[in-house]
Amino acid sequence: MQQLVIASNNAHKIGEIKEMVGDIELLSLKDIGFTEDIPEPYHTFEENALAKASAIYKFSGKNVFADDSGICVNALNGAPGVDSANFSGARDDEKNLQKVLKELKGAQDRSAFYKAVICLIWDGEVYYFEGICEGEIIGAKRGEGGFGYDPIFIPVGYEQTFADLPLSLKNKISHRGKAVMKMVEFLKERNKSI
Ligand code: IMP
Repeated sequence: MQQLVIASNNAHKIGEIKEMVGDIELLSLKDIGFTEDIPEPYHTFEENALAKASAIYKFSGKNVFADDSGICVNALNGAPGVDSANFSGARDDEKNLQKVLKELKGAQDRSAFYKAVICLIWDGEVYYFEGICEGEIIGAKRGEGGFGYDPIFIPVGYEQTFADLPLSLKNKISHRGKAVMKMVEFLKERNKSI
């Protein structure tokens, strides 16, 4: 079975992605013995994803992909965006989400979208895959599942938040789900043509 390293230690993300990659053996950073923190200093998802994937590729020499993702709120000019994990100044989901709710108090436009960019390094070549999920931010938390901003985000076409929807459904419609699906299709096509 082919191996692919996922450049993340986020258990939620790894769990979501494992469900989707099918016939590929997914290795975590722990599996390959990589313990350093990879900085994400850039202002675009693409640059941060490339920085993470490159660091792991240099370390392991194995095929690898990294995703960088976040939520972009239109009334906040796209914030938190690439700063989603640290929006409140701390890596704390609850504080980050409360800051978004506070900044959106009284706003008419509550539209937002999640965005994920995957950078794949496969046989030394770099590829990008993007996924977007549109929706809106509600006024207070709802639901127990998911992570990050999921309890305050309702995707277009649904009435439940990402924290309330089953993971299998989230994976089909989410930003990361769409980006991963594109990558999996790409790898399947590539394998067919070898
Ligand atoms: P990353 O690990 O640098 O990609 O940071 C992503 C951050 O964006 C997370 O810490 C969350 O705050 C937020 N985020 C990204 N994807 C999701 C999601 O599917 N649900 C909830 N929050 C997300």
